[in-house]
Amino acid sequence: MKIGIDKISFYSPHLYVDMNELAVARGDDPAKYTIGIGQDEMALAPITQDPVTLAANAAEQMLTADDKDAIDLVLFGTETGIDHSKSAAVYVHGLLGLPPEARAVELKQACYSGTAAIQLAKGHIALNPDKKVLVLASDIARYGLKTSGEVTQGAGAVAILMSADPKVMEIENVCTAKTDDIMDFWRPNYSDTAYVDGKYSNEKYIEFFSDVWHQYTEKTNRSLDDFEALCFHLPYTKMGLKAMQSVFADGMGDAEKRILSNYQISTTYNRRIGNVYTASLYVSLLSLLELHTSLPEGSRIGMYSYGSGAVGEFFTGILQDGYRDHLCAERHEHILKQREKVSVETYEKVFSQTVPVDGSTKVFDETTDPAPIYLSGIKEHMRQYVCRT
Ligand code: COA
Repeated sequence: MKIGIDKISFYSPHLYVDMNELAVARGDDPAKYTIGIGQDEMALAPITQDPVTLAANAAEQMLTADDKDAIDLVLFGTETGIDHSKSAAVYVHGLLGLPPEARAVELKQACYSGTAAIQLAKGHIALNPDKKVLVLASDIARYGLKTSGEVTQGAGAVAILMSADPKVMEIENVCTAKTDDIMDFWRPNYSDTAYVDGKYSNEKYIEFFSDVWHQYTEKTNRSLDDFEALCFHLPYTKMGLKAMQSVFADGMGDAEKRILSNYQISTTYNRRIGNVYTASLYVSLLSLLELHTSLPEGSRIGMYSYGSGAVGEFFTGILQDGYRDHLCAERHEHILKQREKVSVETYEKVFSQTVPVDGSTKVFDETTDPAPIYLSGIKEHMRQYVCRT
């Protein structure tokens, strides 16, 4: 039985910062941000968007009533959790009006947990082939103003409907993984922003990729020739490029040229959204599938997931016949097109706004946020969500 991605969609908030302007404000050469890091724009979440609303907005327009009836499990991967106890999945379950019989759970392992959710969903569907699993990956990447990680922030979510006989991509069974207890990036419960050893995290990302890729080629006897494209977890778009080039043989053969060319397409959305932690790999996959005009049906796509701390995994998917008919490229183009550019000064103000933690009641101004689902405020420590539809 084939199991995989039946539908896939992203959402990103309506505000963004131009990286050239951010570079100038920070006294850096803009080429460092756009070429050295590989980011053009950075999505910015207003106070009315949090990981719950971003995920709910990604899923809301993608699901039909029949899909909702078939969902019996919601898995939410995030490293921007809003509660130590109640899962973000339960909020989304409510906002989308999913059946009460469906379970809802949140998963955590830095940027890896969306991929963990996909693998768990596969097992669940193998046992329950008539059921569907809603996988959500949603994050707001925050390193802090004027930090070296500032240029690798962003906000957004991906919703993936996993099922048997998927319409977009079968996820193949063979995959390889590696776990090692390291301190390259972490965010203690008391901190609003991440702690990171940036250079070390880059080294580890590449080392883990090299390890899981070589494990995979030994296990399967496959090589780059067997892949149409490779997609990467992208904290910033230069990162995947460095990892990919680490396994290229000397010289550029046809496979290397094809994979490099497709890599550029697979980074287009990410260059405009920035880092979305758990969702980054899947934003890159969407970029490849929606913006490549002639990616053949039946192609094998390799995917590298990395979550600091750290877990890495290499897994693969096969594009299904007619997969293009089941993508929502127009909706995604609209989401990016209707965004509003903000000045660095406004970005700093928006970034500094936080939800009160003292139990007071606060109502947020939602009039400028066009999202169908938003956070309207907080009351007695309870977040208040609104669905306009
Ligand atoms: N023109 C073009 N490129 C330039 C440049 C310029 N004027 N100035 C610098 N660069 C290049 C550098 O050569 C470097 O490229 P390289 O890595 O290929 O050598 C790149 O821009 C970044 O410069 P660097 O000095 O290393 O940046 P930094 O010290 O500010 O830190 C990160 C960059 C990514 C380490 C930092 O943003 C960070 O910690 N991010 C969060 C952690 C992260 O995303 N980790 C990824 C693994 S999960």
